[in-house]
Amino acid sequence: MKILVTGGAGFIGGNFVKYMVNKYPEYHIFNLDTLTYAGDLTKHRDVEERENYSFIKADIADREIINEFFNKEKFDYVVHFAAESHVDRSITEPEIFIKTNVLGTQVLLDAAKSINIKKFVHVSTDEVYGELDFDPETFFTEDTPLQPNSPYSASKASSDMIVRAYYETYNMPINITRCSNNYGPYHFPEKLIPLTISRVLNDERVPVYGDGKNIRDWLHVEDHCSAIDLVMHAGDLGEVYNVGGHNEKTNLEVVKTIISALDKSEDLIEFVEDRLGHDKRYAIDPTKLEKLGWRPTYNFETGIKQTIDWYLANKAWWENIVNGDYKNYFEEQYTFTE
Ligand code: NAD
Ligand code: TYD
Repeated sequence: MKILVTGGAGFIGGNFVKYMVNKYPEYHIFNLDTLTYAGDLTKHRDVEERENYSFIKADIADREIINEFFNKEKFDYVVHFAAESHVDRSITEPEIFIKTNVLGTQVLLDAAKSINIKKFVHVSTDEVYGELDFDPETFFTEDTPLQPNSPYSASKASSDMIVRAYYETYNMPINITRCSNNYGPYHFPEKLIPLTISRVLNDERVPVYGDGKNIRDWLHVEDHCSAIDLVMHAGDLGEVYNVGGHNEKTNLEVVKTIISALDKSEDLIEFVEDRLGHDKRYAIDPTKLEKLGWRPTYNFETGIKQTIDWYLANKAWWENIVNGDYKNYFEEQYTFTE
């Protein structure tokens, strides 16, 4: 069985590649990634020599190369993670989000259609549903209307609609997964949790947007990998599955939990100018996926501990990032008081 994973050099795709290479030695896992700032291959050192793993450097929006590659390998499954994924970057530079997330997805769908793929799993996000208010009884279900608010979530919602259209129009075998915020090993330090861990460890100030009361529903990346594995193998064709584990936290709670676990001072917290169009709350109702047989293995308390331990044990990985080009991004993105 040949599985193409796009974006397998990134955070979630990278974890998924390792998970699949280890769990299914009888499958061949192809990792296709163009290696943007968010992609790195050092995370695959432990699997790169395996016979059931290959890496291909390519841009998903490059139709000629993608078509050629699909015709050569005739994949059975595509699991599509490749994307521009950071909301803040989509606010300052939306165009690449449309090119990669929308046009790139359509290029992949055409290529997959031409070789009669068994299934195309499109990895999307709960952010396509827009925001919830703070009523703890309200959740995103698969039937919640799409109302994306950021250029990032609008680009993901657009790609979801195109994937859906290929199912309705061409009867293409697809699933769409919509997951809540992930965290865990190899999370790029621009996102809240790894940003906080890396900065707190360096005794640097942690920027919290607005009043810190926005809520996210956190899922450990390994639980996301097992959800995608299940949907890939057992999801009903054409269906959307929400992925989340009922781990709602305010941003301030998350930051304070990390500071306390590292035994540092809350004086490191600095409230900075709010993100434009900042969604108030995300929260997933995962009932449909649970009925398919999925159960998360981490709650936030066990997951954040595992994650902090991983960042402590893998300083070289994230220090290499925060001391590289990322420094310029950070300086342009944030303004602290003197
Ligand atoms: P990431 O930014 O860490 O990784 C994205 C990967 O895609 C990188 O390796 C990058 O090099 C690659 N890529 C980007 N443009 C490409 C292109 N044109 N061609 C080929 N490869 C390209 O992202 P992530 O956090 O791992 O997210 C993966 C997917 O999961 C995305 O589709 C995202 O929308 C979705 N998702 C993420 C979260 C989250 O919390 N991070 C939650 C739900 C859904
Ligand atoms: P992020 O990790 O960027 O994920 P997303 O925007 O996809 O939810 O942000 C998570 C939450 O943390 C979000 O409400 C914005 C907030 N946040 C901060 O307060 N400070 C920061 O420096 C970042 C990156 C995010």
